[in-house]
Amino acid sequence: MEKSMDESSPHVLIFPCPAQGHVNSMLKLAELLAIQNLHITFLNTQYIHNRLIQFNDDIQALLECYPKLQFKTIPDFLDEENHPGFGVKIGDAIVSLSLYSKPFLREIIVSEKISCIVLDGIFGDLATDLAHEFGIQLIHFRTISPCCFWAYLCVPKLLECNELPIRGEEDMDRIIRNMPGMENLLRCRDLPSFCRQNNEDHILLDEVVLRTKQSLNANALILNTFEDLDSPILSQIRLHFPKLYTLGPLHHHLNTTKKTSSASSFKSNFFKVDKECMVWLDSQELKSVIYVSFGSTTPMKKEELIEIWHGLLNSKKQFLWVIRPNMVQEKGLLNELKEGTNKEKGLIVEWVSQEEVLSHKAIGAFLTHSGWNSTLESVVCGVPMICWPYFADQQINSRFVSEVWKIGLDMKDVCDRKVVENMVNDVMVNRKEEFLRSAKEMAELACKSVSPGGSSYNSFYELIQFIRSTSR
Ligand code: UDX
Repeated sequence: MEKSMDESSPHVLIFPCPAQGHVNSMLKLAELLAIQNLHITFLNTQYIHNRLIQFNDDIQALLECYPKLQFKTIPDFLDEENHPGFGVKIGDAIVSLSLYSKPFLREIIVSEKISCIVLDGIFGDLATDLAHEFGIQLIHFRTISPCCFWAYLCVPKLLECNELPIRGEEDMDRIIRNMPGMENLLRCRDLPSFCRQNNEDHILLDEVVLRTKQSLNANALILNTFEDLDSPILSQIRLHFPKLYTLGPLHHHLNTTKKTSSASSFKSNFFKVDKECMVWLDSQELKSVIYVSFGSTTPMKKEELIEIWHGLLNSKKQFLWVIRPNMVQEKGLLNELKEGTNKEKGLIVEWVSQEEVLSHKAIGAFLTHSGWNSTLESVVCGVPMICWPYFADQQINSRFVSEVWKIGLDMKDVCDRKVVENMVNDVMVNRKEEFLRSAKEMAELACKSVSPGGSSYNSFYELIQFIRSTSR
Protein backbone atom coordinates (compact mmCIF):
# COMPACT_ATOMS: atom_id res chain seq x y z
CA MET A 1 0.00 0.00 0.00
CA GLU A 2 3.05 2.29 0.05
CA LYS A 3 2.98 5.00 -2.57
CA SER A 4 5.45 7.73 -3.33
CA MET A 5 3.81 11.11 -2.85
CA ASP A 6 4.97 14.21 -4.70
CA GLU A 7 5.21 17.36 -2.61
CA SER A 8 3.52 19.91 -4.81
CA SER A 9 -0.03 19.57 -3.41
CA PRO A 10 -1.41 19.44 0.14
CA HIS A 11 -1.28 16.12 1.91
CA VAL A 12 -4.27 15.45 4.15
CA LEU A 13 -4.23 12.84 6.91
CA ILE A 14 -7.75 11.54 7.64
CA PHE A 15 -8.26 9.62 10.87
CA PRO A 16 -11.73 8.21 11.69
CA CYS A 17 -12.90 6.53 14.87
CA PRO A 18 -12.78 2.75 14.22
CA ALA A 19 -16.56 2.31 13.76
CA GLN A 20 -18.67 1.66 10.66
CA GLY A 21 -20.62 4.95 10.56
CA HIS A 22 -17.43 6.97 11.09
CA VAL A 23 -15.28 5.13 8.54
CA ASN A 24 -18.10 5.24 5.96
CA SER A 25 -18.57 8.98 5.98
CA MET A 26 -14.90 9.91 6.34
CA LEU A 27 -13.96 7.61 3.47
CA LYS A 28 -16.51 9.42 1.30
CA LEU A 29 -14.76 12.67 2.15
CA ALA A 30 -11.36 11.10 1.38
CA GLU A 31 -12.58 10.05 -2.03
CA LEU A 32 -14.04 13.48 -2.78
CA LEU A 33 -10.72 15.10 -1.88
CA ALA A 34 -8.79 12.53 -3.93
CA ILE A 35 -10.93 13.38 -6.97
CA GLN A 36 -9.73 16.96 -6.47
CA ASN A 37 -6.18 15.66 -6.75
CA LEU A 38 -5.19 16.15 -3.13
CA HIS A 39 -2.86 13.67 -1.48
CA ILE A 40 -4.72 11.62 1.08
CA THR A 41 -3.49 9.26 3.77
CA PHE A 42 -6.48 7.43 5.28
CA LEU A 43 -5.57 5.98 8.65
CA ASN A 44 -7.44 2.97 10.04
CA THR A 45 -6.75 0.73 12.98
CA GLN A 46 -5.30 -2.60 11.87
CA TYR A 47 -8.48 -4.33 13.08
CA ILE A 48 -10.72 -2.20 10.85
CA HIS A 49 -8.33 -2.37 7.92
CA ASN A 50 -8.43 -6.18 8.06
CA ARG A 51 -12.23 -6.11 7.88
CA LEU A 52 -12.21 -3.70 4.96
CA ILE A 53 -9.83 -5.95 3.05
CA GLN A 54 -11.85 -9.05 3.96
CA PHE A 55 -15.29 -7.77 2.90
CA ASN A 56 -14.58 -5.35 0.06
CA ASP A 57 -12.97 -7.16 -2.87
CA ASP A 58 -12.15 -4.19 -5.00
CA ILE A 59 -10.18 -2.01 -2.59
CA GLN A 60 -6.83 -2.75 -4.21
CA ALA A 61 -8.16 -2.06 -7.71
CA LEU A 62 -9.72 1.21 -6.56
CA LEU A 63 -6.51 2.39 -4.95
CA GLU A 64 -4.95 2.14 -8.38
CA CYS A 65 -7.57 4.61 -9.69
CA TYR A 66 -6.44 7.11 -7.09
CA PRO A 67 -2.65 7.32 -7.23
CA LYS A 68 -2.62 10.03 -4.55
CA LEU A 69 -4.69 8.11 -1.99
CA GLN A 70 -3.16 5.58 0.36
CA PHE A 71 -4.28 3.58 3.37
CA LYS A 72 -2.12 3.34 6.46
CA THR A 73 -2.76 1.45 9.66
CA ILE A 74 -2.19 2.00 13.35
CA PRO A 75 -2.60 -0.47 16.24
CA ASP A 76 -5.61 0.14 18.48
CA PHE A 77 -3.69 -0.93 21.61
CA LEU A 78 -6.50 -3.26 22.69
CA ASP A 79 -6.20 -6.80 23.92
CA GLU A 80 -6.46 -8.98 20.80
CA GLU A 81 -7.93 -11.95 22.64
CA ASN A 82 -10.81 -9.94 24.16
CA HIS A 83 -11.10 -7.42 21.39
CA PRO A 84 -14.31 -5.36 21.80
CA GLY A 85 -14.71 -5.05 18.01
CA PHE A 86 -16.49 -1.95 16.79
CA GLY A 87 -19.80 -2.28 18.60
CA VAL A 88 -21.16 -0.62 21.72
CA LYS A 89 -17.79 -0.93 23.43
CA ILE A 90 -16.27 1.47 20.92
CA GLY A 91 -15.46 3.75 23.87
CA ASP A 92 -12.57 1.38 24.75
CA ALA A 93 -10.93 2.00 21.38
CA ILE A 94 -11.48 5.76 21.61
CA VAL A 95 -9.82 5.84 25.04
CA SER A 96 -6.84 3.69 24.05
CA LEU A 97 -6.27 5.56 20.80
CA SER A 98 -6.48 8.86 22.68
CA LEU A 99 -3.88 7.61 25.14
CA TYR A 100 -1.39 5.88 22.87
CA SER A 101 -1.69 6.93 19.24
CA LYS A 102 0.11 10.30 19.35
CA PRO A 103 3.64 9.00 18.64
CA PHE A 104 2.27 7.10 15.62
CA LEU A 105 0.50 10.20 14.35
CA ARG A 106 3.68 12.24 14.80
CA GLU A 107 5.65 9.67 12.83
CA ILE A 108 3.13 9.78 9.96
CA ILE A 109 3.03 13.60 9.93
CA VAL A 110 6.80 13.67 9.55
CA SER A 111 7.30 10.78 7.15
CA GLU A 112 4.39 11.72 4.88
CA LYS A 113 4.90 15.48 5.12
CA ILE A 114 1.29 15.96 6.18
CA SER A 115 0.01 19.52 5.77
CA CYS A 116 -3.52 19.12 7.13
CA ILE A 117 -5.23 16.70 9.52
CA VAL A 118 -8.91 15.84 9.29
CA LEU A 119 -9.54 14.20 12.64
CA ASP A 120 -12.72 12.51 13.80
CA GLY A 121 -13.89 15.06 16.37
CA ILE A 122 -14.82 12.24 18.73
CA PHE A 123 -11.09 12.12 19.60
CA GLY A 124 -11.28 15.65 21.04
CA ASP A 125 -7.85 17.19 21.57
CA LEU A 126 -5.87 14.19 20.34
CA ALA A 127 -4.09 16.08 17.54
CA THR A 128 -4.25 19.69 18.77
CA ASP A 129 -0.66 19.79 20.12
CA LEU A 130 0.66 18.00 17.06
CA ALA A 131 -0.97 20.50 14.72
CA HIS A 132 0.62 23.36 16.69
CA GLU A 133 3.98 21.64 16.85
CA PHE A 134 4.13 21.19 13.07
CA GLY A 135 2.27 24.39 12.17
CA ILE A 136 -0.36 22.51 10.17
CA GLN A 137 -4.13 22.84 9.91
CA LEU A 138 -6.40 20.74 12.07
CA ILE A 139 -9.98 20.17 10.93
CA HIS A 140 -12.47 18.27 13.05
CA PHE A 141 -15.06 16.10 11.33
CA ARG A 142 -18.09 15.20 13.47
CA THR A 143 -20.00 12.25 12.05
CA ILE A 144 -23.00 12.79 14.36
CA SER A 145 -25.97 14.99 13.45
CA PRO A 146 -25.72 18.77 13.90
CA CYS A 147 -28.68 18.71 16.33
CA CYS A 148 -26.76 16.29 18.55
CA PHE A 149 -23.53 18.27 18.28
CA TRP A 150 -25.45 21.39 19.30
CA ALA A 151 -27.20 19.55 22.15
CA TYR A 152 -23.81 18.55 23.59
CA LEU A 153 -22.69 22.19 23.46
CA CYS A 154 -25.87 23.23 25.30
CA VAL A 155 -25.46 20.70 28.14
CA PRO A 156 -23.60 23.10 30.50
CA LYS A 157 -26.39 25.66 30.10
CA LEU A 158 -29.05 23.01 30.71
CA LEU A 159 -27.28 22.01 33.92
CA GLU A 160 -27.09 25.66 34.97
CA CYS A 161 -30.83 26.15 34.38
CA ASN A 162 -31.66 22.92 36.22
CA GLU A 163 -33.08 21.36 33.05
CA LEU A 164 -30.50 18.60 33.51
CA PRO A 165 -29.91 16.10 35.01
CA ILE A 166 -32.94 14.02 34.14
CA ARG A 167 -34.64 13.06 37.40
CA GLY A 168 -35.59 9.49 36.58
CA GLU A 169 -38.13 7.76 34.38
CA GLU A 170 -41.01 10.02 35.50
CA ASP A 171 -39.11 13.04 34.17
CA MET A 172 -38.73 11.74 30.61
CA ASP A 173 -41.60 13.72 29.06
CA ARG A 174 -40.54 17.07 30.54
CA ILE A 175 -39.96 19.67 27.81
CA ILE A 176 -36.51 21.22 27.43
CA ARG A 177 -36.78 25.02 27.09
CA ASN A 178 -33.30 26.50 27.09
CA MET A 179 -31.87 25.14 23.87
CA PRO A 180 -31.58 27.92 21.28
CA GLY A 181 -32.77 26.81 17.85
CA MET A 182 -34.92 24.03 19.30
CA GLU A 183 -36.92 25.65 22.09
CA ASN A 184 -39.81 23.52 23.35
CA LEU A 185 -39.08 20.81 20.80
CA LEU A 186 -37.28 18.17 22.83
CA ARG A 187 -38.48 16.14 25.77
CA CYS A 188 -35.86 14.72 28.11
CA ARG A 189 -36.22 11.41 26.29
CA ASP A 190 -35.19 13.08 23.02
CA LEU A 191 -31.84 14.27 24.34
CA PRO A 192 -28.74 12.29 23.25
CA SER A 193 -28.67 9.04 25.20
CA PHE A 194 -25.69 10.03 27.35
CA CYS A 195 -27.92 12.64 29.06
CA ARG A 196 -29.95 9.78 30.51
CA GLN A 197 -27.31 8.91 33.05
CA ASN A 198 -28.18 9.75 36.60
CA ASN A 199 -26.61 12.39 38.78
CA GLU A 200 -23.72 10.32 40.11
CA ASP A 201 -22.78 8.87 36.79
CA HIS A 202 -22.19 11.88 34.58
CA ILE A 203 -18.65 10.89 33.64
CA LEU A 204 -19.46 9.76 30.12
CA LEU A 205 -21.63 12.79 29.38
CA ASP A 206 -18.95 15.12 30.77
CA GLU A 207 -16.38 13.44 28.53
CA VAL A 208 -18.59 13.72 25.44
CA VAL A 209 -19.31 17.40 26.15
CA LEU A 210 -15.62 18.12 26.75
CA ARG A 211 -14.59 16.46 23.47
CA THR A 212 -17.29 18.43 21.62
CA LYS A 213 -15.99 21.70 23.08
CA GLN A 214 -12.45 20.73 22.13
CA SER A 215 -13.43 21.08 18.48
CA LEU A 216 -13.13 24.82 19.22
CA ASN A 217 -9.36 24.24 19.27
CA ALA A 218 -9.41 23.07 15.67
CA ASN A 219 -9.07 25.47 12.75
CA ALA A 220 -12.32 24.33 11.16
CA LEU A 221 -15.23 21.95 11.57
CA ILE A 222 -16.92 19.66 9.03
CA LEU A 223 -20.47 18.37 9.47
CA ASN A 224 -22.23 15.83 7.29
CA THR A 225 -25.41 17.76 6.55
CA PHE A 226 -26.86 20.33 4.16
CA GLU A 227 -28.13 23.83 4.84
CA ASP A 228 -31.78 23.20 3.94
CA LEU A 229 -31.98 20.33 6.41
CA ASP A 230 -30.42 21.96 9.44
CA SER A 231 -30.29 25.70 8.88
CA PRO A 232 -31.61 26.91 12.32
CA ILE A 233 -29.18 24.63 14.15
CA LEU A 234 -26.27 25.51 11.88
CA SER A 235 -26.84 29.23 12.60
CA GLN A 236 -26.41 28.46 16.30
CA ILE A 237 -23.32 26.34 15.76
CA ARG A 238 -21.77 29.04 13.55
CA LEU A 239 -21.88 31.50 16.45
CA HIS A 240 -19.22 29.28 18.05
CA PHE A 241 -17.57 27.75 14.97
CA PRO A 242 -17.47 30.37 12.22
CA LYS A 243 -15.34 28.12 10.03
CA LEU A 244 -17.94 25.44 9.47
CA TYR A 245 -18.13 23.37 6.31
CA THR A 246 -21.38 21.51 5.60
CA LEU A 247 -20.71 19.01 2.82
CA GLY A 248 -23.49 16.50 3.10
CA PRO A 249 -25.07 14.21 2.43
CA LEU A 250 -21.52 13.07 1.75
CA HIS A 251 -22.40 9.74 0.12
CA HIS A 252 -24.64 11.53 -2.33
CA HIS A 253 -22.13 14.32 -2.83
CA LEU A 254 -19.66 11.66 -3.91
CA ASN A 255 -22.15 9.84 -6.14
CA THR A 256 -23.10 13.10 -7.84
CA THR A 257 -19.47 14.11 -8.33
CA LYS A 258 -18.59 10.71 -9.74
CA LYS A 259 -21.18 11.04 -12.46
CA THR A 260 -18.87 13.70 -13.86
CA SER A 261 -15.64 11.81 -13.18
CA SER A 262 -14.42 8.40 -14.23
CA ALA A 263 -13.46 7.11 -10.78
CA SER A 264 -15.32 4.32 -8.95
CA SER A 265 -16.24 4.31 -5.28
CA PHE A 266 -14.81 2.58 -2.22
CA LYS A 267 -17.05 0.26 -0.29
CA SER A 268 -16.43 0.07 3.42
CA ASN A 269 -18.48 -2.89 4.62
CA PHE A 270 -17.42 -4.50 7.90
CA PHE A 271 -19.56 -7.57 7.04
CA LYS A 272 -20.14 -9.75 3.98
CA VAL A 273 -22.81 -8.22 1.75
CA ASP A 274 -25.81 -10.38 0.85
CA LYS A 275 -26.39 -9.88 -2.88
CA GLU A 276 -29.32 -12.28 -3.25
CA CYS A 277 -31.65 -9.86 -1.49
CA MET A 278 -31.45 -7.52 -4.49
CA VAL A 279 -32.87 -10.29 -6.68
CA TRP A 280 -35.67 -10.80 -4.16
CA LEU A 281 -36.35 -7.03 -4.13
CA ASP A 282 -36.58 -7.01 -7.94
CA SER A 283 -39.54 -9.37 -7.66
CA GLN A 284 -41.48 -7.09 -5.27
CA GLU A 285 -44.00 -4.43 -6.15
CA LEU A 286 -43.35 -0.70 -6.16
CA LYS A 287 -42.88 0.73 -2.61
CA SER A 288 -44.29 -2.44 -1.07
CA VAL A 289 -41.35 -3.50 1.15
CA ILE A 290 -40.26 -2.15 4.52
CA TYR A 291 -36.49 -2.23 4.96
CA VAL A 292 -35.43 -2.89 8.56
CA SER A 293 -31.93 -2.28 9.88
CA PHE A 294 -30.53 -1.05 13.16
CA GLY A 295 -27.06 -0.12 11.93
CA SER A 296 -23.67 -1.52 12.74
CA THR A 297 -23.68 -1.25 16.52
CA THR A 298 -27.09 -1.73 18.10
CA PRO A 299 -27.41 -4.95 20.10
CA MET A 300 -30.90 -6.42 20.53
CA LYS A 301 -32.58 -8.44 23.22
CA LYS A 302 -34.44 -11.59 22.31
CA GLU A 303 -37.80 -10.08 23.39
CA GLU A 304 -37.21 -7.00 21.23
CA LEU A 305 -36.43 -9.08 18.14
CA ILE A 306 -39.54 -11.14 18.70
CA GLU A 307 -41.79 -8.09 19.15
CA ILE A 308 -40.47 -6.51 15.96
CA TRP A 309 -40.78 -9.78 14.04
CA HIS A 310 -44.43 -10.23 15.07
CA GLY A 311 -45.16 -6.57 14.35
CA LEU A 312 -43.74 -6.92 10.85
CA LEU A 313 -45.62 -10.16 10.16
CA ASN A 314 -48.88 -8.69 11.49
CA SER A 315 -48.49 -5.57 9.35
CA LYS A 316 -48.87 -7.80 6.27
CA LYS A 317 -46.15 -5.83 4.53
CA GLN A 318 -43.16 -7.63 3.06
CA PHE A 319 -39.92 -6.83 4.85
CA LEU A 320 -36.20 -7.01 4.24
CA TRP A 321 -34.51 -7.20 7.64
CA VAL A 322 -30.80 -6.99 8.42
CA ILE A 323 -29.88 -8.95 11.54
CA ARG A 324 -26.10 -8.77 11.96
CA PRO A 325 -24.31 -11.84 13.31
CA ASN A 326 -23.07 -9.78 16.31
CA MET A 327 -26.50 -8.38 17.10
CA VAL A 328 -28.00 -11.15 19.21
CA GLN A 329 -26.56 -13.22 22.02
CA GLU A 330 -28.80 -16.24 21.41
CA LYS A 331 -27.26 -17.76 18.32
CA GLY A 332 -30.18 -20.09 17.62
CA LEU A 333 -32.66 -17.21 17.52
CA LEU A 334 -31.51 -15.85 14.18
CA ASN A 335 -32.06 -19.24 12.55
CA GLU A 336 -35.46 -19.56 14.22
CA LEU A 337 -36.55 -16.21 12.84
CA LYS A 338 -35.18 -17.05 9.40
CA GLU A 339 -36.97 -20.38 9.36
CA GLY A 340 -40.19 -18.76 10.55
CA THR A 341 -40.14 -16.24 7.70
CA ASN A 342 -41.01 -17.48 4.25
CA LYS A 343 -40.10 -15.47 1.21
CA GLU A 344 -43.70 -14.36 0.64
CA LYS A 345 -43.55 -12.50 3.94
CA GLY A 346 -40.03 -11.25 4.07
CA LEU A 347 -36.32 -11.88 4.00
CA ILE A 348 -33.80 -11.83 6.85
CA VAL A 349 -30.16 -11.29 5.88
CA GLU A 350 -26.93 -10.46 7.72
CA TRP A 351 -25.74 -7.34 5.88
CA VAL A 352 -26.73 -5.50 2.70
CA SER A 353 -25.47 -2.74 0.50
CA GLN A 354 -27.75 -0.24 2.23
CA GLU A 355 -27.48 2.62 -0.25
CA GLU A 356 -28.46 0.22 -3.02
CA VAL A 357 -31.37 -1.21 -1.02
CA LEU A 358 -32.75 2.20 -0.07
CA SER A 359 -32.69 3.36 -3.67
CA HIS A 360 -34.54 0.26 -4.89
CA LYS A 361 -38.03 1.04 -6.21
CA ALA A 362 -39.60 -1.72 -4.07
CA ILE A 363 -38.68 0.01 -0.79
CA GLY A 364 -41.56 1.97 0.74
CA ALA A 365 -40.27 2.69 4.25
CA PHE A 366 -37.28 2.20 6.55
CA LEU A 367 -37.48 0.95 10.15
CA THR A 368 -34.19 2.32 11.44
CA HIS A 369 -32.15 2.97 14.59
CA SER A 370 -31.71 6.57 13.34
CA GLY A 371 -27.93 6.48 13.03
CA TRP A 372 -26.91 9.62 11.22
CA ASN A 373 -25.64 7.90 8.05
CA SER A 374 -28.77 5.80 7.78
CA THR A 375 -30.94 8.89 8.27
CA LEU A 376 -29.15 10.79 5.51
CA GLU A 377 -29.23 7.78 3.18
CA SER A 378 -32.99 7.52 3.68
CA VAL A 379 -33.45 11.28 3.17
CA VAL A 380 -31.61 11.14 -0.17
CA CYS A 381 -33.81 8.29 -1.42
CA GLY A 382 -37.02 9.96 -0.23
CA VAL A 383 -37.86 6.94 1.94
CA PRO A 384 -40.04 7.70 5.02
CA MET A 385 -38.75 6.32 8.32
CA ILE A 386 -39.99 4.60 11.46
CA CYS A 387 -37.39 5.29 14.11
CA TRP A 388 -36.37 3.02 16.95
CA PRO A 389 -33.30 4.77 18.38
CA TYR A 390 -30.77 2.96 20.51
CA PHE A 391 -28.02 5.35 21.67
CA ALA A 392 -25.86 8.46 21.17
CA ASP A 393 -27.38 10.92 18.67
CA GLN A 394 -30.15 8.52 17.63
CA GLN A 395 -32.69 9.76 20.23
CA ILE A 396 -32.51 13.32 18.95
CA ASN A 397 -32.28 12.34 15.27
CA SER A 398 -35.54 10.42 15.54
CA ARG A 399 -37.26 13.45 17.13
CA PHE A 400 -36.15 15.58 14.18
CA VAL A 401 -37.40 12.95 11.70
CA SER A 402 -40.88 12.99 13.22
CA GLU A 403 -41.36 16.55 14.50
CA VAL A 404 -39.10 18.82 12.44
CA TRP A 405 -38.72 17.25 9.00
CA LYS A 406 -41.98 15.28 9.30
CA ILE A 407 -40.67 12.41 7.22
CA GLY A 408 -41.53 9.58 9.57
CA LEU A 409 -42.63 8.40 13.00
CA ASP A 410 -40.70 7.98 16.24
CA MET A 411 -41.15 4.70 18.17
CA LYS A 412 -38.61 5.68 20.82
CA ASP A 413 -38.51 3.70 24.09
CA VAL A 414 -41.29 1.35 23.01
CA CYS A 415 -40.90 -2.09 21.51
CA ASP A 416 -44.31 -3.61 21.12
CA ARG A 417 -45.68 -5.69 18.24
CA LYS A 418 -48.93 -3.71 18.05
CA VAL A 419 -47.05 -0.39 17.84
CA VAL A 420 -44.77 -1.79 15.12
CA GLU A 421 -47.75 -3.05 13.15
CA ASN A 422 -49.64 0.26 13.47
CA MET A 423 -46.66 2.41 12.57
CA VAL A 424 -45.81 0.30 9.52
CA ASN A 425 -49.39 0.68 8.34
CA ASP A 426 -49.48 4.40 9.11
CA VAL A 427 -46.33 5.07 7.10
CA MET A 428 -47.02 2.63 4.25
CA VAL A 429 -50.83 2.83 3.98
CA ASN A 430 -52.88 5.33 6.03
CA ARG A 431 -50.54 8.35 5.81
CA LYS A 432 -48.49 7.10 2.88
CA GLU A 433 -49.06 10.09 0.54
CA GLU A 434 -48.31 12.63 3.25
CA PHE A 435 -44.99 11.01 4.21
CA LEU A 436 -43.95 10.32 0.65
CA ARG A 437 -44.61 13.93 -0.29
CA SER A 438 -42.49 15.41 2.51
CA ALA A 439 -39.74 12.79 2.02
CA LYS A 440 -39.64 13.58 -1.70
CA GLU A 441 -39.37 17.31 -1.02
CA MET A 442 -36.48 16.74 1.35
CA ALA A 443 -34.77 14.39 -1.12
CA GLU A 444 -34.95 17.10 -3.77
CA LEU A 445 -33.34 19.61 -1.44
CA ALA A 446 -30.60 17.09 -0.62
CA CYS A 447 -29.89 16.57 -4.33
CA LYS A 448 -29.87 20.31 -4.97
CA SER A 449 -27.35 20.88 -2.18
CA VAL A 450 -24.69 18.66 -3.78
CA SER A 451 -25.29 19.80 -7.36
CA PRO A 452 -23.31 22.67 -8.91
CA GLY A 453 -24.24 25.89 -7.11
CA GLY A 454 -25.81 24.03 -4.15
CA SER A 455 -24.80 24.78 -0.56
CA SER A 456 -22.78 21.58 0.05
CA TYR A 457 -21.19 21.80 -3.39
CA ASN A 458 -20.03 25.37 -2.67
CA SER A 459 -18.94 24.53 0.84
CA PHE A 460 -16.76 21.72 -0.47
CA TYR A 461 -14.93 24.07 -2.82
CA GLU A 462 -14.43 26.52 0.04
CA LEU A 463 -12.93 23.68 2.05
CA ILE A 464 -10.54 22.78 -0.79
CA GLN A 465 -9.50 26.43 -1.01
CA PHE A 466 -8.94 26.54 2.74
CA ILE A 467 -6.80 23.39 2.66
CA ARG A 468 -4.79 24.58 -0.33
CA SER A 469 -4.28 28.12 0.93
CA THR A 470 -3.06 27.05 4.34
CA SER A 471 -0.86 24.11 3.38
CA ARG A 472 2.88 24.63 3.39
C1 UDX B 1 -22.93 5.10 14.79
C2 UDX B 1 -24.04 5.59 15.68
O1 UDX B 1 -24.87 4.52 16.04
C3 UDX B 1 -24.79 6.70 15.01
O2 UDX B 1 -25.84 7.13 15.80
C4 UDX B 1 -23.89 7.82 14.70
O3 UDX B 1 -24.64 8.79 14.02
C5 UDX B 1 -22.73 7.34 13.87
O4 UDX B 1 -22.12 6.22 14.46
P1 UDX B 1 -24.07 3.20 13.16
O5 UDX B 1 -24.79 2.44 14.16
O6 UDX B 1 -23.04 2.52 12.43
O7 UDX B 1 -23.42 4.57 13.56
O8 UDX B 1 -25.23 3.82 12.20
P2 UDX B 1 -25.16 4.72 10.94
O9 UDX B 1 -24.57 6.06 11.22
O10 UDX B 1 -26.52 4.73 10.37
O11 UDX B 1 -24.16 3.97 9.97
C6 UDX B 1 -24.37 2.67 9.53
C7 UDX B 1 -23.80 2.54 8.15
O12 UDX B 1 -23.76 1.17 7.83
C8 UDX B 1 -24.63 3.24 7.09
O13 UDX B 1 -23.79 3.98 6.23
C9 UDX B 1 -25.29 2.10 6.34
O14 UDX B 1 -25.43 2.32 4.96
C10 UDX B 1 -24.33 0.98 6.56
N1 UDX B 1 -25.02 -0.32 6.52
C11 UDX B 1 -25.86 -0.69 7.52
C12 UDX B 1 -24.79 -1.14 5.44
O15 UDX B 1 -24.05 -0.80 4.52
N2 UDX B 1 -25.42 -2.35 5.42
C13 UDX B 1 -26.25 -2.77 6.38
O16 UDX B 1 -26.75 -3.89 6.27
C14 UDX B 1 -26.48 -1.91 7.48
